[in-house]
Amino acid sequence: MDLVIRNASLPDGRRGIDIGVLDGRIAAVEPALSAQGIREIDAGGDLVTPPFVDAHFHMDSTLSYGLPRVNESGTLLEGIALWGELKPQLEQEALLERALHYCDWAVARGLLAIRTHVDICDDRLLAVEALLEVKRTVAPYLDLQLVAFPQDGLLRSPGAFDKLKRAIAMGVDVVGGIPHFERTMAQGAESVRLLCEFAADKGLRVDMHCDETDDPLSRHIETLAYETWRLGLQGRVAGSHLTSMHSMDNYYVSKLLPLMKESGVAAIANPLINITLQGRHDTYPKRRGMTRVPELLAAGIDVAFGHDCVMDPWYGLGSGDMLEVAHMGLHVAQMTGQEAMRQCFLAVTETPARILGLEDYGIAPGCNADFVLLDARDPVEAIRLRAARRAVVRRGAVVAEAPRAAARLNLPGRPGAVDFRIER
Ligand code: FE2
Repeated sequence: MDLVIRNASLPDGRRGIDIGVLDGRIAAVEPALSAQGIREIDAGGDLVTPPFVDAHFHMDSTLSYGLPRVNESGTLLEGIALWGELKPQLEQEALLERALHYCDWAVARGLLAIRTHVDICDDRLLAVEALLEVKRTVAPYLDLQLVAFPQDGLLRSPGAFDKLKRAIAMGVDVVGGIPHFERTMAQGAESVRLLCEFAADKGLRVDMHCDETDDPLSRHIETLAYETWRLGLQGRVAGSHLTSMHSMDNYYVSKLLPLMKESGVAAIANPLINITLQGRHDTYPKRRGMTRVPELLAAGIDVAFGHDCVMDPWYGLGSGDMLEVAHMGLHVAQMTGQEAMRQCFLAVTETPARILGLEDYGIAPGCNADFVLLDARDPVEAIRLRAARRAVVRRGAVVAEAPRAAARLNLPGRPGAVDFRIER
């Protein structure tokens, strides 16, 4: 074997497992593997997980915080206005450098697949060109999937549909949209229909910013689910954000969720961002602003958590840590039961991998040898500690390493160090 991990725990609860890697693929997953590895790593009972996957990100704006100024109100609309100010000033080389810098952070965090929206409302399509080059550059160590995103509205922004089609022709993978930002509800619905028909015609996946508002009457997810069903796009469509669902009437949602299930539409919540952006017009009570994650899961609908933003016009924090995303999602959705916490871990690993359509993903013989050894015993502990990534493996090569988290103590009569773990 090229690499053997000894004594690992797996997300499904198996313990004492050895993982053998040969020629970039997982060759064996079993206790007490007899084969030796050229390199061996002792997991010491720690968790080995498939890589983190971010189902929703904006790489064209990442790490631009403060350019040309910071978002003083912290609102979504000031963020969009700020991005509009920055867009004409963007330079390809600087954008590319920021994106590559973020991908370095991602790899160090064990985040090896990202679906990023890329704004196509720019005659130059500068961000599209830059991110296509980033995609080619990082392909050996990170899977980047691009979504053609009409930030200023498909129908509202002149020529946006033509630019979106150009971006797809250039190699962008997924069809995006933003129906709640069109001029009227009717135009929002029209944009969904046009985009879904285009995707069906081209055989592409769809991922729309959908109903990212507190307005309970923003119901474009209904149209998105209906068009998905009508055009036979089941399993290839995701609705991102879906925050208006938190304010919708319960009766209406009781009809909406079965429609989404029937249509095979996935949901992508972005807890870090929507807990800060939504509810801004409220006094008190102040709405939480995340979609109905437990209810969606209970209806059998795939739900992933995305990071959405890191240090950009909308959000001044973040570091590419999907465990931080899961941690926030867990809190906002009050998913504190054991099974619910494990579902939050799946929302940043297996579920987004399914939504992106990643092939050969997982810890099983035949899968790509892509995985992360965490400084934690199980998924819940990993979320609790936002555990260090002891080793990040891509196609059998260790591409990042970090020390375990620990602190030395100088207290009389107390242990000399703590690692924040409880032995069970
Ligand atoms: Fe977004």
